[in-house]
Amino acid sequence: MKFTVWNWLVFPAMGLVWSMTVPIFNHFYCADMPIEHVTEMMDPQDWDSDTYQMINFIGLAEKYGYTAEEYKVTTKDGYILTLHRISGSPSSPKASGKPAVYLQHGILLSSDSWILMGPEKDLAFLLADQGKDVWLGNTRGNTYSRAHVKLDPAEEKFWEFSYHEMGIYDLPAIIDTILDVTDSQKLEYYGYSMGTTISYVLLSQRPEYNQKISKMYHIAPVAKWGSTLKSMLKVMDVIFDALKEFITFFKFQQLLPQSAMAAELGKKQCDESSFFQPICFTLFSTIGLDKSRFNQTLLPHVMKHFPAGVSKYTVYHYNQNYNTHKFAAYDYGVGINLKKYGTTKPPKYDLSKVKVPVTIWYADNDDIAYPDNVFSLAEELPNVIDVNKVDDPKFNHFDFLWATDVRQLVYNKL
Ligand SMILES: *[C@@H]1O[C@H](CO)[C@@H](O)[C@H](O)[C@H]1NC(C)=O
Repeated sequence: MKFTVWNWLVFPAMGLVWSMTVPIFNHFYCADMPIEHVTEMMDPQDWDSDTYQMINFIGLAEKYGYTAEEYKVTTKDGYILTLHRISGSPSSPKASGKPAVYLQHGILLSSDSWILMGPEKDLAFLLADQGKDVWLGNTRGNTYSRAHVKLDPAEEKFWEFSYHEMGIYDLPAIIDTILDVTDSQKLEYYGYSMGTTISYVLLSQRPEYNQKISKMYHIAPVAKWGSTLKSMLKVMDVIFDALKEFITFFKFQQLLPQSAMAAELGKKQCDESSFFQPICFTLFSTIGLDKSRFNQTLLPHVMKHFPAGVSKYTVYHYNQNYNTHKFAAYDYGVGINLKKYGTTKPPKYDLSKVKVPVTIWYADNDDIAYPDNVFSLAEELPNVIDVNKVDDPKFNHFDFLWATDVRQLVYNKL
């Protein structure tokens, strides 16, 4: 550990304050309660008070009369992922032979994030209504995919992955499962944010998967980085070294998991009836959303399911991409690089190998996927069908998921 004012003064002081205040957080916000995913909320009397119940994907979808299913997928390196499926909708019941489509969430999100707004609004529900067989993945380390054949999430080793492994292990396992269960040759891929990044990793590292995807819709794609950052990312970049020391000091392996505390904070402080709601909403919007097109009533609901956790190395990996202006795998140092990649330097992702036809959507005011970076990405992709701009100057990154008018502005035109 380095001898810095952070490590020897600030962080220990923070740890002390936390240990003194934690009883308060536990009391008011259930901070230390582990989450239990349930399909239906139990009667509070039957509730095992050691766990905090959270409605799961199946419960969210069934509430609106959709047929939802859950599959377990084991990757080549032993991670056990949860794969969700909406196989039927009220207007288009489950049937064989429906075309398979796959939706891949972004960083800190889960399959839940595609169905939080409700029918007639969410992309997953709209596709199911159109007669598609909708599959939704969960990448390793998020709230639904925290299991491994040998490793325990409590072990540091479990978390030694970035988005690289999501691309080369999670996606192949998921795609093969979908094609197998549906007896199809190909599927359509909808990726959002990091959900686009990992498809580039997959198709550049394992180009044979180009045969298994017929078409990709890439919403707010992230791969290339120019020289300027703005908003939240700029702040993150300024404090990044301190942030890294903080993470190391407290030995965090994962960041911002789905938690009882976020859910309780949402319910108590971010509800419309709360005095703190405006502050809460303003803080929440710094993730990159246009406040005027987000339904505030749903803020506590969204905070139950987002954030949903990510490994620290995934965040470090994006930071490295930005700092080096290279779209390459994460640099762990020579020892681990050799073990993971077989080379001392991390491999670069060759975008020219991404042969699947891609339709891109971006927004001028996106705080994460900046237009210049999107254009530079589109130039390197060999098979771009279309690059579409959202027709609104204020539309932002998370609006692609949760804006009240995202259906009119984007989904209807896909
Ligand atoms: C916001 O969400 C609430 C709760 O689902 C709903 O009753 C209301 O109609 C929504 N408002 C808009 C503008 O969509």
